[in-house]
Amino acid sequence: MPITAIVLAAGEGTRMKSRHPKVVHKVLDKPLVWWSVRAARDAGVDRVVVVVGNGADEVRASLAGEDVTFVEQTERLGTGHAVRVVRDALGGFQGPVVVLSGDSPLLRADTIKDLIQRTMAAHNACTVLTMTPPDVTGYGRLDFAEDGSVRSIIEHKDCTPEQRERLTECNSSIYCFCGGRLTANIDKIGNDNVQHEYYLTDMVGIYVGMGEPVAAVHVDDYTELLGVNSRSQLAEANKVMQRRINEGLMAEGVSMLDPDSVWVGPDVTVGRDTVLLPLTMLWGKTSIGEGCTVGPNTRLTDTTVGDDCTVDETVAIQATLENDVNCGPRAYLRPGAHLLDGSKAGTHVEIKNSTIGKGSKVPHLSYIGDTTMGEGVNVGAGSITCNYDGVHKNKTFIGDNVFVGSDTMMVAPVSIGDGALVGASSCITRDVPADALAIERSEQKIIEGYASARMARLKKEN
Ligand code: UD1
Ligand code: CA
Repeated sequence: MPITAIVLAAGEGTRMKSRHPKVVHKVLDKPLVWWSVRAARDAGVDRVVVVVGNGADEVRASLAGEDVTFVEQTERLGTGHAVRVVRDALGGFQGPVVVLSGDSPLLRADTIKDLIQRTMAAHNACTVLTMTPPDVTGYGRLDFAEDGSVRSIIEHKDCTPEQRERLTECNSSIYCFCGGRLTANIDKIGNDNVQHEYYLTDMVGIYVGMGEPVAAVHVDDYTELLGVNSRSQLAEANKVMQRRINEGLMAEGVSMLDPDSVWVGPDVTVGRDTVLLPLTMLWGKTSIGEGCTVGPNTRLTDTTVGDDCTVDETVAIQATLENDVNCGPRAYLRPGAHLLDGSKAGTHVEIKNSTIGKGSKVPHLSYIGDTTMGEGVNVGAGSITCNYDGVHKNKTFIGDNVFVGSDTMMVAPVSIGDGALVGASSCITRDVPADALAIERSEQKIIEGYASARMARLKKEN
């Protein structure tokens, strides 16, 4: 039977004090709502429906590339109303229906799997996950009958002061429903409550009244169910997720000098015996091989790093480093930078859309753009490619074993043949043949005794 998940993400999130809808705020490098979608997918859910409303376009955009269906809830009349809108849009539900909140990013896929299994095994009309957080303020409370069976969920605002004290088991807002019974009964939810909203929580009491089986499953680790309603809770969620991912990496053989200062996104892979030093951030689809040292002060996004590389104080976006590559300190590798085995991008070096051949070195203060560089090249300090003429991005070709002297300008389009030598401080505007010397520099003058004579003259003038 196909399993559907509904992710509720239409709310505004007033307490975030933001121009943006709450669910697009990020935990690590992904929007809040993405985590719910991912957890549902990992739990084996077949179809994910995201209910959008406030900032709908922004929420849709934040999930670009994800295989989800969006349903718009134009009026926010409550969580029960949101689910009803989905039922109408889909023409009913078949199979289990998991309801998740777009603002609960810490929920694990295994917990969802377990929730679905329990619901199906017991033929429950509804199973709800509950928790007992240290501060229960604001949460809906589970009310139990004498025999311990669930009676209903009462929203905090609808509780009597006595109930607020006594009822401490809270609704996580994560449920699994039987789709058929949900379709048949959701219209029974009314809005006769303090907030005049249609509460999804009311389904529990409605089912109990009908004699349908309902269960509450307590999750001991309440942090997994934490909702993000404020910036402070967002920071807390980031911290929990950071620890979870870093613990996973360390368990697989990755070292961290200080795991609290290393931030790794959920789609990143890191090989064994790689050391991540403080203030390292690895985002997007970055992958790092074995035996590397990365950081300190390094941010890699969608970047591939091979084995045994050193990446020190480097920012890289969509770059590829093969094996034994040495970067930084303070290298900036932009999209299309491709450093082959044993090559080097040293300090204050920027490389964009260029291949640096095997063993080639760009050690100091250089910009290399739109360049194909062969093997065994040495680029002297301060040398750059002038790839942009104001309109076009022009290409530079540098052959194997070329020696580029310091402070060379290579004005593209230009090519330097294998084994050529370029004298320091040259402005290269014409192609250099293989094995040639190219030098472009005015002749040096020598005037003997000039310095002291000048000093004497200046002092006299005073
Ligand atoms: C809800 C539960 C409460 C539970 C708490 C856990 C209800 C009535 N209450 O309260 O029992 O303890 O979550 O965090 O369900 N949403 C929509 N459309 C709407 C209203 C809300 O999509 O019309 C979405 C929100 O964007 C949010 C989620 O549903 O992602 C929960 O709504 P919210 O208003 O935050 O409910 P709580 O007051 O937190
Ligand atoms: Ca909430």
